[in-house]
Amino acid sequence: MTERNAIILAAGKGTRMKSKLYKVLHQVCGKSMVEHVLEQLQQAKIENIVTVVGFGAETVKEALGDRTHFALQKQQLGTGHAVMQTEDLLHDSTGETIIVSGDTPLLTAATFRKLCEYHEQRHSAATILTSNAPDPTGYGRIVRNDVGIVERIVEQKDATKEERAIHEINTGVYCFDNQKLFAALKLINNNNAQGEYYLTDVIGILKHEGEIVTAYRDDDFNETMGVNDRIALARANELMRQRINTKLMSEGVSMIDPDHTYIDAGVKVGRDTVIEGGVVIKGQTVIGSDCLIGAHSRITDSVIHDDVKVISSTLEEAEMHTGSNIGPNSHLRPQAEIGKNVHIGNFCEIKKAYIGDGTKVGHLTYIGDATLGTNINVGCGVVFVNYDGAKKHHTNVGDHAFIGSNSNLVAPVNIAADSFIAAGSTITDDTDRFDMAIARSRQTNKKDYAKKLPW
Ligand code: UD1
Ligand code: CA
Repeated sequence: MTERNAIILAAGKGTRMKSKLYKVLHQVCGKSMVEHVLEQLQQAKIENIVTVVGFGAETVKEALGDRTHFALQKQQLGTGHAVMQTEDLLHDSTGETIIVSGDTPLLTAATFRKLCEYHEQRHSAATILTSNAPDPTGYGRIVRNDVGIVERIVEQKDATKEERAIHEINTGVYCFDNQKLFAALKLINNNNAQGEYYLTDVIGILKHEGEIVTAYRDDDFNETMGVNDRIALARANELMRQRINTKLMSEGVSMIDPDHTYIDAGVKVGRDTVIEGGVVIKGQTVIGSDCLIGAHSRITDSVIHDDVKVISSTLEEAEMHTGSNIGPNSHLRPQAEIGKNVHIGNFCEIKKAYIGDGTKVGHLTYIGDATLGTNINVGCGVVFVNYDGAKKHHTNVGDHAFIGSNSNLVAPVNIAADSFIAAGSTITDDTDRFDMAIARSRQTNKKDYAKKLPW
């Protein structure tokens, strides 16, 4: 099989984004644009990938790691100049080289494969991936001759009025014969409206040398869109979201309002789970089957097992086991692990704590740095007092304990199994099994005193 290389162009600053973040690192459904491109190339089995970095080189390198080689373009003198920087790494290859921009996040592996096949079947020196843009403004236009053969690409800023009327655009993706690419690059110049070395000029040069240049048209313009500003970024997110949601629904997930359901690429959801509107699911979250994710929940990097209900709640790096439920309006923070058939009600916050199977935490409670056993009842308004201003301390609560409402458990403290904390107690000492602990001042009733009060 022909050796296939790829070059990702990612050295530009992305001035039009008006951002301190380098353009290709802006995210589409939770993943940077350049990572989307890289992953699709990998899926298309292209092993030798070189990414051209320049602006923010170190940050881009960090984001991509060892999944690609890097070439540095010190000065951004144009897309042609960017490709020239990869010559040291690629000049020996006699195969094909795909070139793609780091700002086209919707392209798929299937399209890369089809582009290469089209290129090989026609023995081309270069094949351009083109598309028909409803509004071609800003894109390079494909100029064809009378019989429809590709002649060259003209950039928006260099185009005549007639050329600007062309709707077939250069998507910025190409498949080249590697040797012919680098030979032609030696002949480009920067005599154009932007004073840049355009990669697109290679097409006219190859054509002039009598080489075969072809165009493979992608009927789905959306897939090929390039993101240059925030408006296009929002549109790319919308399109990616549709793709993610459609896939999940086709796999058996129900969505009440898919247009307003925001799920990152890489999230997994099991069958017969129902997701209501306004839900945000981010990062590496995994959700099981038969769950209900209620409206306006926000779930990040969490694991939710089967048959779990999350009602209008926020989860971060948390885990909920089978049959448990939470909400409305509760918050699981990192390292909260909720056992099977646990009930977490409303306005509860849980951090770095394990809650054993069958335990109930109904209302207005904070649990931090704690281990709770099974079948415990935590009353309303209980506070696990874990912080002394300098250090965090741990609380243990044994199986089947009862924590009365409005109690404070001042850590470090151990509440034994089957012990009972009376409501309103501030607990600082450990309890033994079957103890009833009460720690509050006694009530005195003053006879007829109310008559003396001014009300
Ligand atoms: C480019 C194409 C245009 C095409 C469009 C598709 C050229 C001259 N024009 O225009 O025909 O329709 O893409 O989206 O190629 N980059 C570098 N170094 C540079 C300049 C750019 O690495 O010196 C990178 C950018 O980071 C970006 C990519 O190349 O990822 C494309 O550059 P951009 O400035 O966005 O080109 P367009 O104007 O969109
Ligand atoms: Ca672009």
